Amino acid sequence: MTKSIKIAPSILSSDFSKLGEVLEELNQSGAEMVHVDVMDGHFVPNITFGPPVIKKIRKYSDLPFDVHLMIAPVHKYIKDFADAGADIITVHPEATDNLLQTIELIKSLGKKAGVSLNPNTSLESIFPVLHLIDLTLIMSVNPGFGGQKFMPEVLSKVKILRQKIDEENLKVEIEIDGGIDFDTGKLAKEAGVDILVSGTTLFAGNDDLKKNIKKLRNC
Ligand code: DX5
Ligand code: ZN
Repeated sequence: MTKSIKIAPSILSSDFSKLGEVLEELNQSGAEMVHVDVMDGHFVPNITFGPPVIKKIRKYSDLPFDVHLMIAPVHKYIKDFADAGADIITVHPEATDNLLQTIELIKSLGKKAGVSLNPNTSLESIFPVLHLIDLTLIMSVNPGFGGQKFMPEVLSKVKILRQKIDEENLKVEIEIDGGIDFDTGKLAKEAGVDILVSGTTLFAGNDDLKKNIKKLRNC
């Protein structure tokens, strides 16, 4: 039986001048969550938005906010993102002095905790916390920008992780982020991901958002 895949559109590729409308469209699109990319111009070479913007746009959405924090140091900002309306808060291990404490803080605020691995970060670095988290976000590009080329070498990480999660009966989900289109999405699904993040393909694709989401789900 094929497992159903979740789709997390990344609003990084949407029109920032009408985020409220974009979120309302996403409510009707069939997407399971909204992927929100937060960048600080320091941890990654690009800047997006922070808690005040997330708080303002939160009321337009009925979907969970999957907030991907590409900021360092991240720990002192976790509460701000929780208060702004994040449902899942994902951090990079390189962005905190104490990953365990950061995960515990996210959980203590009643939020789901995710850890993201850059293409060059080893899979093993996540193993000590795997039983504590809800999500592993496997980066299939170096974070910072939408529209980059998918790095197929990360698929081996996904396969090993899938096997480990299944063998140990863990509840953590695998999400993949970067360069996901209808071809790479299929590869990622076959490797065992649960959630596909996609920006450019969904927002700048040939069809409308709803059709692109359906096409990605069925790829
Ligand atoms: C990249 C971000 C991604 C990005 C994906 O640093 O984490 O979420 O929006 O965009 P696409 O799908 O265009 O690669
Ligand atoms: Zn992201």
